[in-house]
Amino acid sequence: MMDCAQRLVDIFGSQAEVARAFQLDRAVVNNWVKSGYVPARWAAEVERVTGGHVTAADVLCDANARKPVKVKSRSVDAFPGPAFGSDAMNKFAPAKRIQSFHPPQRTLMGPGPTEIHPRVLTTMSQPAIGYLDPVFVEMMEELKSLLRYAYQTKNPLTFPISGPGSVGMEYCFVNMVAPGDKVIVCQNGVFGGRMLENVVRCGGVPVLVEDKWGEPVDPQKLEDALKKHRDAKIVAFVHAETSTGCQSDAKLLTQLAHQHGALAIVDAVTSLGGTPVKVDEWEIDAIYSASQKCLSCTPGLSPVSFSERVVERVQQRKDKIHSWFMDMNLLLGYWGATTRTYHHTAPTNALFALHEALLLIREEGLENSWARHQRHHVALKAGLEAMGMKFLVAEKDQLPQMNAVLCPEGVAEAEVRKTLLGEFGLEIGAGLGPLAGKIWRFGLMGYSCRPDNVMLCLSALGSVLADMGLPVHVGDAEAAAHGAYAQMHARDAQRKKRAA
Ligand SMILES: Cc1ncc(COP(=O)(O)O)c(C=O)c1O
Repeated sequence: MMDCAQRLVDIFGSQAEVARAFQLDRAVVNNWVKSGYVPARWAAEVERVTGGHVTAADVLCDANARKPVKVKSRSVDAFPGPAFGSDAMNKFAPAKRIQSFHPPQRTLMGPGPTEIHPRVLTTMSQPAIGYLDPVFVEMMEELKSLLRYAYQTKNPLTFPISGPGSVGMEYCFVNMVAPGDKVIVCQNGVFGGRMLENVVRCGGVPVLVEDKWGEPVDPQKLEDALKKHRDAKIVAFVHAETSTGCQSDAKLLTQLAHQHGALAIVDAVTSLGGTPVKVDEWEIDAIYSASQKCLSCTPGLSPVSFSERVVERVQQRKDKIHSWFMDMNLLLGYWGATTRTYHHTAPTNALFALHEALLLIREEGLENSWARHQRHHVALKAGLEAMGMKFLVAEKDQLPQMNAVLCPEGVAEAEVRKTLLGEFGLEIGAGLGPLAGKIWRFGLMGYSCRPDNVMLCLSALGSVLADMGLPVHVGDAEAAAHGAYAQMHARDAQRKKRAA
């Protein structure tokens, strides 16, 4: 394959034109061509100048393959002493020779993490800067405004917490639940159970409203609980239950909470970016998500948003919030509206990445992102059903980004997943808790939600199941998915024609 230096010459026509485009001396470009790579520091500029024809990731891979950066150590004189460089230190060295880690290329169609857009990966590999650097602070403001767009809110307090979705969840409970507060938790899968655990650990008094796994939260049951527990201060529920692929009516459940004087905490870990989440219109009080699902970013960040009602409530608390790291009043000094003072060392490069991931959503348009998730869900579903699979969740409550199907009778379900990963590099999810061994979960989230992934998944699964002797007609699923796409395209074309 042609190296990046040669590709640039190909694109611009000559070395002289490359030099002109990059405002460089011709000798520099000649050196790139002779040495067969473009130095890594030019990665972002190459992507910008070529309009993405040569990506920064290509430049970085090329440069790293030709000239890996090595850190050289100084002579032992710097650390005199009997132990330095001797066997005494080496006894702590790992037994086997360890080399740089290069993960394989996978197609990620499980419950998360999802594949990461190349633009996000490139952004993440940019040089580190300080978390109080004025350039970084400017980026933080943009990041907050992009998050407000994703959440459809004007809440000033909308920002990413350093930590995975579980930290966002805990942040809500730690700040909002004081010891003795009554909290109604609706559980219809794994993650409602974690909310319950959080209430208990905060010293709250939990009231459980349970629904069957695979069914949405029943608004009637919540209303009954609210009538019975008039002193309930908070209602907590999961909007998109990842363990089952079921969606609950966040707007209605929040309304019910408010009618009875309670605030609502909503888990939008799997829904944000994939299906409508409208914080202001639905009047949600506190909401958290995670970076590695429909936002297609690296794991480890949890975007949250809080209404003024929540901020007031936390500020009025008489007791000291029992987690220093999570105390909203302290973290406001870094992410709040005015000052920027040290709270903890923010994960700068991960935040660059989230900025880029959200920018991609802004460029695509939030509604288009929701529509894309729905379109590929319809095609995947047509294919899975053509193979005889049954969905766990009733059609009206299905999440497009998380498709849970019952494993066919008698199939070695773990073996199927292992073969998909080993032979096709395709990851799908298993069932959790009582659904372990009973379902498969096919994620179609963010950058993983693409037609090529849908088709690969159907072909790979059909082939593995047929090899295992199941009555699956190889090719039927792909045909059904193509049929579904064709129908949707025809409908879109008609709609456009009518609108013209
Ligand atoms: C609905 C839901 N809530 C919370 C979490 C926890 O997020 P994380 O794994 O990023 O801590 C997950 C993770 O899959 C989830 O799906």
